[in-house]
Amino acid sequence: MALEARCFSAGDGLFHRRQLRYQLASPHCAWFVAGQFEGAACLLVASNGRKRWGRLYSLAVDPAHRNKGVAKRLLGASFAWLREQGVQAMRAEVKNTNLGARRLYADLGFEEHEELPDYYGPGTSGIKLYRPL
Ligand SMILES: CC(C)(COP(=O)(O)OP(=O)(O)OC[C@H]1O[C@@H](n2cnc3c(N)ncnc32)[C@H](O)[C@@H]1OP(=O)(O)O)[C@@H](O)C(=O)NCCC(=O)NCCS
Repeated sequence: MALEARCFSAGDGLFHRRQLRYQLASPHCAWFVAGQFEGAACLLVASNGRKRWGRLYSLAVDPAHRNKGVAKRLLGASFAWLREQGVQAMRAEVKNTNLGARRLYADLGFEEHEELPDYYGPGTSGIKLYRPL
């Protein structure tokens, strides 16, 4: 919760305690945590019957630990874990104004696919991201 609060505001999709508790208990969610909660990533393995994919639910790095490769390491571990599960693609969404995160995802091989109008509230669109594993 403390990391979430340091990294997100309500308009950024800040998780509430109840949502976090659900994700921690869910057998469909996997968490990757760096050090003493310098950063964390939450992944969901989703499927539509035939296809399975990993969905990046949340990625947050404490402002005091940014630009040291923590997010890249968390995502690298996530890709490896998903591949071990036999999952062949990862999806995510990002706010169109979050240029730092967009650059990070682009560096790591995510493709920006579709725009999602009003995804983060009226007037704030999201971008759908896709990365083959
Ligand atoms: C986005 C975020 C996860 C990056 O974490 P990080 O540990 O600092 O990232 P890393 O050090 O692993 O990678 C840095 C890379 O990200 C990109 N990047 C990160 N912040 C940036 C910024 N402000 N401007 C431009 N590029 C940025 C660059 O590609 C950079 O690579 P470079 O150092 O080779 O230029 C972190 O800033 C954060 O938690 N932000 C708030 C929450 C958020 O936006 N989460 C992602 C959307 S869900």
